[in-house]
Amino acid sequence: MQNLDFYDLKPKLSDFRQEVLVGLSKPQKSIPPKFFYDKQGSEIFEQICELEEYYPTRTELAIFKQHCEEIAALMGENCLIVEYGSGSSEKIRIFLDVLKNPSAYMPIDISKEHMLRASEEVARAYPKLDVLSVCGDYTQKLILPVYEKKPVKTKVIFFPGNTIGNLDYADAVELFSQAATLVGSGGGMLIGIDMKKDPQILHAAYNDAKGVTAAFNLNLLVRMNRDLSANFDLSSFSHYAFYSPKSSRIEMHLVSLKNQVVSVAKQEFEFSKGESIHTENSYKFNLEEFQKVAEEGGFNLVKVWSDDNQFFSICYLSVA
Ligand code: AVI
Repeated sequence: MQNLDFYDLKPKLSDFRQEVLVGLSKPQKSIPPKFFYDKQGSEIFEQICELEEYYPTRTELAIFKQHCEEIAALMGENCLIVEYGSGSSEKIRIFLDVLKNPSAYMPIDISKEHMLRASEEVARAYPKLDVLSVCGDYTQKLILPVYEKKPVKTKVIFFPGNTIGNLDYADAVELFSQAATLVGSGGGMLIGIDMKKDPQILHAAYNDAKGVTAAFNLNLLVRMNRDLSANFDLSSFSHYAFYSPKSSRIEMHLVSLKNQVVSVAKQEFEFSKGESIHTENSYKFNLEEFQKVAEEGGFNLVKVWSDDNQFFSICYLSVA
């Protein structure tokens, strides 16, 4: 395809074994949430996005659809859109349909095959758009491929879905700083953030009735059993997710239901009854707090759009 290019930045594949062994040796056992997304985990996450209780995905989509013309006007003519963690490149199509002569779309994802398939579909559906798909890790320092085929007025990063909420404060500031350098002065970021709300609503979103989120969490044990020759007994661990108003975050844990010893990559780990592995944080924001993180990373808040319940917000940020 004439309008499709591929760049492999050869992201350093995180060492699952190493990070798990370090995480399970800490006083509060933990495993980074990036390890949820093996093939099975990515499929379960797609099911989460369809759940009645999991409001973020459909709320964000509705805001995009309602305000896409105004957002597209802010992004301007001849923009280059860089999408962080593009996956199936579904949401960006709402903007590609209304943007004025977008120059290029640069999806960045760590999962090569999935991204390539999605990029081909975008390139086919938008033949006038150059698609430069990049296999890379946007949480690390990135040097993007040079694009000179068409003029570019503004570079805009597209970062939907409150993925920023899975990072702790310092990591979020670091991500914004790197992004600001990447888009340069006048560049922008369109980002989705999940807002603080009634804890009951948050609780339900991470404790759905069908048990899909529980399966997503427990899949980490399945993955360790398969990839690290571990011997976790899934029936003796329980999914536990709660909202902490003090930390403004959902915490997800896997709690041991008995005293037990588990072998992982030939090392043994003791679990006492009630002890947990901390698997994810998902921060919820108010606008002032979010603005502070973004500003610390070099972005100004330009405009915000929300749903009527103020459950979710889309922010347009720009580099001064
Ligand atoms: C990807 N991320 C923004 C989701 C969230 O809501 O924090 C991951 C997730 N974990 C449980 N449900 C969804």
